[in-house]
Amino acid sequence: MSGRLPTDEELLGIAHAVAVRAYAPYSNFNVGCAVLARDGRVIEGVNVENAAYPLGVCAERTTFSRAIAEGYGPGDFAVAAITASPCGGCRQWLHEMRVDRVVFRNGGRIVTMTPDELLPESFDGSDLT
Ligand code: THU
Repeated sequence: MSGRLPTDEELLGIAHAVAVRAYAPYSNFNVGCAVLARDGRVIEGVNVENAAYPLGVCAERTTFSRAIAEGYGPGDFAVAAITASPCGGCRQWLHEMRVDRVVFRNGGRIVTMTPDELLPESFDGSDLT
């Protein structure tokens, strides 16, 4: 990406803009996610539901899965912006990806937290050694 990096507010705006692309016919709850990589690239994702409900995938996970498939890895991400408060499982993903900070809309508030704040005392790879 050329030019200046998006602000957190602008990144959240991108997340809201892409949320219309969600495939959420069962919940009718569209979620958008926009992640700013350290190289300036913005990667976007949306939630993708399935008639077999538990197979649905959250917006955060489609975003990071896409980023990984394009060559990014844990530690490559500065900010994740999400149009909803991240669920427990996605907090684990945000922690795994070592994003610096997470910005999300929670009702009328815009909240900024670190992955550690979102998921204290987390289980991670070091627990497996
Ligand atoms: N959802 C997300 O995409 N991210 C979250 O962190 C919270 C929940 C989606 C999953 C499902 O498609 C819909 O929101 C309703 O739960």
